Amino acid sequence: MALWGGRFLKKQNSFFKKFNNSLKIDFILVKEDIFGSIAWSKILLDSKIITEDEQKKLETSLNIIYSEIKNTPKKILLSNSEDIHSWVEQKLIYMLGDVGKKLHTGRSRNDQIATDLRLWCKKEIHKLKKSIINFQKSLITLSEKYFSIIIPGYTHLQRAQPIIFSHWCLAYFEMIQRDFDRLKDCLQRIDISPLGSGALAGTGWKIDRKKLANFMNFSKESNNSLDSVSDRDYVVELLSIASIGMMHLSRFSEDLIFFNSGECNFIELSDKVTSGSSLMPQKKNPDSLELIRGKTGRVYGSLINILVLLKGLPLSYNKDMQEDKEGLFDSLETWRMCLKMSKIVLLGLKLNKNICKKSAESGYSNATDLADYLVRKGISFRESHDISGKIVLHAINNNKSLSELSLLDYQSFCVLIENDIYKYIVLKNCLNQKNSKGGTAPEKVLSEIQKNKKIIFNNINLMN
Ligand code: ARG
Repeated sequence: MALWGGRFLKKQNSFFKKFNNSLKIDFILVKEDIFGSIAWSKILLDSKIITEDEQKKLETSLNIIYSEIKNTPKKILLSNSEDIHSWVEQKLIYMLGDVGKKLHTGRSRNDQIATDLRLWCKKEIHKLKKSIINFQKSLITLSEKYFSIIIPGYTHLQRAQPIIFSHWCLAYFEMIQRDFDRLKDCLQRIDISPLGSGALAGTGWKIDRKKLANFMNFSKESNNSLDSVSDRDYVVELLSIASIGMMHLSRFSEDLIFFNSGECNFIELSDKVTSGSSLMPQKKNPDSLELIRGKTGRVYGSLINILVLLKGLPLSYNKDMQEDKEGLFDSLETWRMCLKMSKIVLLGLKLNKNICKKSAESGYSNATDLADYLVRKGISFRESHDISGKIVLHAINNNKSLSELSLLDYQSFCVLIENDIYKYIVLKNCLNQKNSKGGTAPEKVLSEIQKNKKIIFNNINLMN
């Protein structure tokens, strides 16, 4: 039996029925639908719309329904119910008869789906935060394990200045901490109960919506019934947070794919997260990272989908909104899987210390330090930049590194250059010099590692 039908004379076209049904997607919300329904039964009792005995029967049966499909939710798909709300109610009516028919008093599927989805998002945010923390832990582990390794830092994919590998790790730590904070911030707007808004205008039954919100562990109830059933801002927000998060993971993947390439050879990925070629026996491909980079596109797609879906919709509920879930479910799961994959990749990653160092030393990545040296000798930076450029060109033409040029060579460009230049442009010194806040000097990075460990600890506390 459908939840409606009295005013219809003809049966639904069978193709339309399939087209209209959302069970194949919203069965995911079964737990939330049942949880919200139990809360609704309690508020019906509180408002004396049903008796204590009826409420008990409803709650017990709803719990039984949940325990029956808890481990096998896909069984729900064997039914031809229109959606998860109909499925739960039909089960209830089958078990309780007329008492089951009382549950939907004062409620609409419009406020029901808005409630289910918000409950589901809250749960999902919790899982995502956990995954972020796990990824952060692996970044810290790696930054400690390979603390002393120097790699070239790049701009324009040209070797620019040397950095320590841990500094690279902590850059990603910063990015995903922002993702964590965004989720935390967004949760405040999600944690609001729309239940009791009815179809759009509110409910005529005397219902304590604050109490109802409390039953479901929402921090408060919504203000405007029209907005409550129309609002999908939180879907847009979550998808935009997921898109930013995936963009971070995609850049992370691209960096590692580059570091892993035959051209760089800075790192070696574990056999466990790579695959071979069916034709070329020597190949070991970074599929795990390429897939993370690739999956980013579908998350962006879902964000654009929801934005376009909502843009022309009049208030309040429109069936278009049924299309809000597939992309959301898929995207948050994708983001979570990619966080997990990233963590696994990091834990098996090995660095080729000598190749990294050699590469950091070549490519004239200490040229800025040479310019800084000249500034310390009293030359203006613009001039020292020009002199250093000429020295680099001279070194390139003679196929030498800056450390290999003779003092005479140096002095032919600037008489102020002395023997101490060699100490100044040595890799270690270039790093140590970058000791202002946020710089790659090892002492600074070390204290950032300690600070970030506290942030992880804080994040864990925020979860409880
Ligand atoms: N399946 C619908 C959705 O996902 C639930 C709300 C249906 N409301 C209605 N009036 N048909 O959006």
